[in-house]
Amino acid sequence: MSAVPVEEGVARLLYRDWYAADAPVQQVGRHWLVSSRDLVRRVLLDQETFAAENALDAETPMEVAALRTLAGHGFRLPHTLANNSGPTHPGIRALLAPYFSPAVIATHRPFIERLARRLVAEAAQRLERDGIVDLHATIARPLPLLVLDRIIGLPPDDIEVVKSFAVAALELFWAPLTPARQWELADQVGAYHARLRRFARTGDGLAATLRDNASLLGLDEDDIVGVLFFLAVAGQETTSQFLTALFARLMRERQVLDAVRTGRASTADVVAEGLRLETPVVTWRRVTTRDVVLAGTPIPRGASVVLRLAAAGRDPDEVEYPEAFLPGQRGSRRHLAFGAGPHRCLGALLATMEAETTVAAAADLLGRCRIVRWPHYPPNLSFRIPDALVVSEYGAA
Ligand code: HEM
Repeated sequence: MSAVPVEEGVARLLYRDWYAADAPVQQVGRHWLVSSRDLVRRVLLDQETFAAENALDAETPMEVAALRTLAGHGFRLPHTLANNSGPTHPGIRALLAPYFSPAVIATHRPFIERLARRLVAEAAQRLERDGIVDLHATIARPLPLLVLDRIIGLPPDDIEVVKSFAVAALELFWAPLTPARQWELADQVGAYHARLRRFARTGDGLAATLRDNASLLGLDEDDIVGVLFFLAVAGQETTSQFLTALFARLMRERQVLDAVRTGRASTADVVAEGLRLETPVVTWRRVTTRDVVLAGTPIPRGASVVLRLAAAGRDPDEVEYPEAFLPGQRGSRRHLAFGAGPHRCLGALLATMEAETTVAAAADLLGRCRIVRWPHYPPNLSFRIPDALVVSEYGAA
């Protein structure tokens, strides 16, 4: 039973049918869904009317038990990056930007290539040994976290701790939840947030940069922890989800996979088409700052506007064959997987490079395998959270 009673049709549209676009704008429950690419982009570019402040609001309102648990861990999530349309946003964004500039990302390329080759080789060894291997667990899950740790510096924890915290955070803030599950997640997310607070006081890398610039930018400790918290989740888990969804898709698109293996399709075109059709961030939210009319539909002030990024990528007005995976087709790069405007994803270049590198390293392995267990994606407003992608070699029993 979900904490907030949600009618089945509403739940389906909000949490499962991410691509269905019945109308360019439609009210579903307490959200207004926007599906056409043109309108989604217009909203993203108009920060005055559509503010980002609700980006990290809990989809299932927090029950008292969860709130108490979070408070017990000293959890606070102020408006810093993705959920900040205020005057401090440009300064915080400018502080982070150098970590993700094209020149800096290029210096990380050799490391990412080596890492991708190593993880693919380990997955191949497991396949040989066990007859099956989970490509999500062995490649997609660890790679982006190891890269992020190298770039910004995170607390020295076991990979499992950070990965399961990040998935818990995506469930806590974006999934329909029972009170018991919400409480459980609040405890896990709160505990890692407290860990980040200790790290924010003494840690190196981005934590030190944020501390050094705190007074200049008017940031307090909660703001620093908030930035680290957002990056620890969004800066790696999204890319893991994308890699798994893209692997699964490529294993269905054998011609595309063959074209990659023989050099007839560029990994850049394949990843662009993957982002269009398999984006992990299926929606993103804004809140109206005034009464507004969008494509003839009145939306009141203070309303939650859910931008269907996944549906926008399949807009027939933008793409020649919206449902087909055709690298390089007209409109392929006009997806909004990374948003647009003042909050456009700062890690877009990094995520794209990680995906291109990993696809190149894994193409032969994917080509030899078939899927024996597809990913399961639990109900969620904004994220696809695959649990596994198990493959075996063609011809294996
Ligand atoms: C495939 C992987 C990824 C996808 C699909 C993705 C998607 C998004 C989306 C949709 C937004 C909101 C954009 C908007 O409001 O206009 C966003 C924001 C953001 N992303 Fe990503 N992201 C990915 C990977 C990354 C990575 C690897 C990093 C950094 C290491 C990162 C850092 C950020 C930051 C800092 C913001 C907030 C920017 C701001 O508010 O100024 N993302 N991302």
